[in-house]
This record gives sequence, C-alpha cells and structure tokens, in this order.
Amino acid sequence: MNKKEDIQFIVQVASEEHTQFAQLICDTMEDSAKKRGTGIAKRKPEYIIEKMRQGKAIIAVTSDGRWAGFCYIEAWEGKNYVANSGLIVSEEFRKHGLAKRIKQKAFELTRKKYPNAKMFGITTSAAVMKINSELGYKPVPFSELTQDDAFWNGCKSCVNYDILMRTNRKICLCTGMLYNPKEDEKKKFEKNLKVQNAKKKIPSKLSVPKSRKMQVAIGVKKKTKKDSLKDNQ
Ligand SMILES: CC(C)(COP(=O)(O)OP(=O)(O)OC[C@H]1O[C@@H](n2cnc3c(N)ncnc32)[C@H](O)[C@@H]1OP(=O)(O)O)[C@@H](O)C(=O)NCCC(=O)NCCS
Repeated sequence: MNKKEDIQFIVQVASEEHTQFAQLICDTMEDSAKKRGTGIAKRKPEYIIEKMRQGKAIIAVTSDGRWAGFCYIEAWEGKNYVANSGLIVSEEFRKHGLAKRIKQKAFELTRKKYPNAKMFGITTSAAVMKINSELGYKPVPFSELTQDDAFWNGCKSCVNYDILMRTNRKICLCTGMLYNPKEDEKKKFEKNLKVQNAKKKIPSKLSVPKSRKMQVAIGVKKKTKKDSLKDNQ
C-alpha cells in the first residue's frame, strides 16, 4: 500500500471525462459488498454515467489520473429528501480520509443544489456512520426517511431485502441517518445567541465589587498610596 503522504487526491464534482470509470466503480461496489457479506443497492454503469453527466456525483482521482473514490446524490419525493448514496473508495486508497472528503463535497453539493432538502442515507458501515455524524446527521427510524417507493425499491438487489419486507420497511440491518437543515440552522442560531448573551455579561474580573459600590455611594474616596504616606507623616 502507498504511504499516505505520497498520494495526492483530487475530489470534485464528476463530469463527462469521468464516465470512463463507471464500470470500474460498479465492479468495485459489487466486489466489496461480496467481501463484506453485506447488502448493497446494485447500480449499473449507465446509471453512474447519468449521475456524472447531471453533475450529481462526486469523484476522487489521484493526481496521476487513477480512480480513487465515488458517491452520488439523488433527490426523492420531489426535492424534499436527498440521499447521498453509493459511497465507495478503491481498496488501495482506503484509510486516507478520502471517504470523509468525498462525503463533505457531496454534502456541500447537496446543500447548494437542494438547500431545503433533508439529507439522508442508510448504511451498515461504521466508517460512514462516523462521517455522517460529523456532518450533523442523526440516526433516525426509517419512518423519518423518504417514503418514496422508488428509493426503497433500490434495496431489492440487497441480500437483506427480505428483512426489510418482513418488517414492513420499519427496520433492517442498515441504520437510517438524517440531516435536517432546519434543525441545524435552529441549533446554530441558538448557539450564536448564547455566545452573544455571554459576551454581554460583564466578566467578574471587570465588575466593581459590592464594597466599592457602597463606598462610591456614600462618597468615600479610595485611599491612594500618596494618601497613606501623608497619613503616616
Ligand atoms: C467505507 C469506506 C467508504 C471508507 O472509506 P475510507 O476512505 O477508508 O474512510 P476514511 O479514511 O475517510 O475514514 C473515515 C473515518 O472512518 C474510520 N474508518 C475507516 N474505515 C473503517 C472501518 N472499516 N471500520 C471502522 N471505522 C473505519 C476512519 O478511521 C475515519 O475515522 P477518523 O476520522 O476518526 O480517523 C470504504 O471502506 C469502502 O469503500 N468500503 C466498501 C464500500 C462501503 O462500505 N460503502 C459504504 C456503503 S454505505
């Protein structure tokens, strides 16, 4: 494996020039799902290509032009929900912080394209849960995610689909995670307000002690060094 410091990655919104990697991306997705023994919503190269052409995918490549990672975004229920899906990093480039960078870029792209949409994902991956949490996602029951049948139909190719069906789409092996922009804005607003209020409070170091206030009120002048010297003479 390459040394971390040797590799430079370019993480960007994918476009026509990256369609050459679609087959490799699909093969890597399928291969890693098999190795992990977990489910995955399979995607065809044509679907990946479409996402790239629509500017709804993030790709990471090395500075010498090798594919390194991928993820795409998809809107559901009109534009009320957006899923960041299909995250995959080439095996040789894992643990370089690449998934984190790809998800961050997908997050920014989604906020720009769909500023009012709730962002969500379903995953069994500990790494993805960690990344999502850092971005502000919260674990939620499936009932809080999109109820668009087309999204859940994507799970048909997953080995665990029977579980999802048995539970009436309530639970499965994946954890549902949601980022609600309105809640996040509210939290940021409240945090800001707290900071502003804290700034308004006079620090105890600078506030006048009670005894001094009393002296001022009754007109007692604070003794200076000069006054003390005079007293002693
Ligand atoms: C999951 C995956 C995308 C992670 O990619 P990556 O580039 O290695 O992840 P990063 O290096 O950005 O790591 C992000 C964080 O997750 C942690 N992490 C990475 N792999 C992990 C693992 N297998 N188990 C637990 N934590 C892991 C990292 O330590 C890092 O945490 P830190 O910020 O505290 O250091 C990659 O392993 C992969 O492609 N797996 C197969 C496909 C897959 O599972 N996709 C997710 C489908 S939802």
